Amino acid sequence: MITEDISQGKERVKVPVVNELNDEKPIGFGYTRFCISGPNVSEAFNSPFYPGCGCEQTSCVTNICSCIESYGPFYDENGCLQIYNQPTDYCQPVFECNSHCVCSGSCPNRVVQKGQWLQLQVFKTKHKGWGLRTFENINKFTFVCEYAGELISIQEAKKRAQELTHETGNYLIVLREHSSNDQVLRTHVDARFHGNASRFINHSCSPNLVMVPVRVDSIVPRLALFAARNIDIGEELSFDYSGEFDVWPSSEANGEHKGLEVLGDFGKEPKSCFCDSQSCRGVLPFESSLYSP
Ligand SMILES: C[S@@+](CC[C@H](N)C(=O)[O-])C[C@H]1O[C@@H](n2cnc3c(N)ncnc32)[C@H](O)[C@@H]1O
Ligand SMILES: [Zn+2]
Ligand SMILES: [Zn+2]
Ligand SMILES: [Zn+2]
Repeated sequence: MITEDISQGKERVKVPVVNELNDEKPIGFGYTRFCISGPNVSEAFNSPFYPGCGCEQTSCVTNICSCIESYGPFYDENGCLQIYNQPTDYCQPVFECNSHCVCSGSCPNRVVQKGQWLQLQVFKTKHKGWGLRTFENINKFTFVCEYAGELISIQEAKKRAQELTHETGNYLIVLREHSSNDQVLRTHVDARFHGNASRFINHSCSPNLVMVPVRVDSIVPRLALFAARNIDIGEELSFDYSGEFDVWPSSEANGEHKGLEVLGDFGKEPKSCFCDSQSCRGVLPFESSLYSP
């Protein structure tokens, strides 16, 4: 074991690091549970933005809670995401109860904001550098972890993209949300210098996690990773850096789900993918928009 807890006591659970292959240790980074602002991004992204509910005596449930009535319900009684049960043409935004709400911290509409609670472990893989695996069985649609890092502007993301090499690896995620009126909202998160265990999650062309934008206090979404299927103890966790993978039932009218794209890895030329899945596309997804002027 290299480190007993890479979160240094910041998470509710310890996040150990092991290397069963050699003596290498992960390169240091600042541990943060949630996103922090990068250069020239105001703290405004963390200030309360949405109105809150008045559920002081009761639990936040359908027909009572104004947050759930306006936007949800999003979670079932086990805290599992349930938006995927209805086919939609566009990504349904997820809103949790926020700091304007009077409900308690045990409100069922607060899941992602509470952070990681599953036992996960950072480990050295054979061909993909470090990876993250689970130490317990995870049910489909359970919240696993948030892709935390520095929230940066598109200008800063373009600048950082220029500095990347195959050796540095890439921790920059570009999330695009397409709304029904053809607007595209971009969110850029870089976990290279600051992040949590999610920064170790590798890409797979056939992943077991799906990234869902979840809003709590701010208009800026949190990049939440949920189990896309039941995951067994010991399995490596992965998501599709291209965002092509989703678990929405496809709408018959539309055929194609256009709600959300997650665009991840890039470099000067495509990197070989070692996800080992039968549907492997051969190379890691490439984000070209960060290389255009
Ligand atoms: C967000 S990091 C993931 C953690 C990384 N493996 C590490 O050692 O810190 C993304 C980088 O991991 C590597 N990687 C992720 N998925 C991969 C895959 N399927 N095949 C090969 N390399 C991968 C690439 O170097 C990529 O730039
Ligand atoms: Zn409520
Ligand atoms: Zn509320
Ligand atoms: Zn692959």
